Amino acid sequence: MNFRGRWVLITGASSGLGLEMARLLAKEHGAHIIAVARREDRLTALKTELESAHGVQVLPLSADLTKPGDAARVFETATSGRSVDGVILNAGITYFGHALDQPPESFDAMLATNITSVVRMSQLFGAHFAKREGGGALMLVASMAGFSPLPYQAAYAATKSFVISYGRSLAYELRKAGVSITVFAPGGIATEMLSLSGLDRKFKAGDLGIMSAEACARIAVDAFVRRRELAIPGILNRFLATMFKVLPQGFLVGRSAAMYEGGLPKEPPAT
Ligand SMILES: NC(=O)c1ccc[n+]([C@@H]2O[C@H](COP(=O)([O-])OP(=O)(O)OC[C@H]3O[C@@H](n4cnc5c(N)ncnc54)[C@H](OP(=O)(O)O)[C@@H]3O)[C@@H](O)[C@H]2O)c1
Repeated sequence: MNFRGRWVLITGASSGLGLEMARLLAKEHGAHIIAVARREDRLTALKTELESAHGVQVLPLSADLTKPGDAARVFETATSGRSVDGVILNAGITYFGHALDQPPESFDAMLATNITSVVRMSQLFGAHFAKREGGGALMLVASMAGFSPLPYQAAYAATKSFVISYGRSLAYELRKAGVSITVFAPGGIATEMLSLSGLDRKFKAGDLGIMSAEACARIAVDAFVRRRELAIPGILNRFLATMFKVLPQGFLVGRSAAMYEGGLPKEPPAT
């Protein structure tokens, strides 16, 4: 799909993967960007950066996707007076630690951000694209964590399993209407997600298997414009994804848990 002079909405555009995808879509594809996140100052800085460097238009759209109604408000604002041709639902949060320790408000925010807002916005934009000539492109950012249970990121992995399953079903349902759904499933990326969750106690930029946000965004944007149904960036991640299909799940869960040894915040709660 050619996005030159067309609008692409990206959630989670204030940092990490979303920020780098916005930069690439503006710089190399000439796309106008609707940048969604909570931190308005960062979205305003992105507008200044991209408009002056690449001559595209940027609409900063501050929204908290945990709030009921914000997904619909984003859709209404984005589509009023402009044609949106692409949407990347990238905003996401994790929790790293013992599953029993995850505070209820952390779990609720995760469910709202990683699942509820993704479903709501997929429905709104999917229906919008399906109704019109030319369809549209939607990409859901999942994770390798969604391919197998993942101790110490238990709820996060389950939300990303949902995104993979939901996105792939939706791809089938909307294909004939000219709407592409790309599920993008990266492994570790050196972003604020690692530092905010404490995962940086185990994983850092430059470690084997940890991609830079720029490198990962390049593969994501390529999959999005080519309208691929599933994309996993990096040879190592694609190898692991194959192993997830063939190795016994008990073994995989144990190996995944072992990755976090020494990095956990504290001992499991006493019973
Ligand atoms: N980093 C990894 O290792 C990794 C691996 C696999 C998949 N992923 C996935 O990649 C995606 C991007 O993550 P990242 O690594 O780039 O993390 P990040 O740097 O922490 O970015 C997360 C983005 O989501 C936004 N966001 C979070 N909560 C929000 C809310 N309630 N409302 C609106 N926006 C919200 C944040 O913006 P504000 O804080 O300004 O709202 C930020 O722009 C996520 O879906 C994540 O699950 C990441």
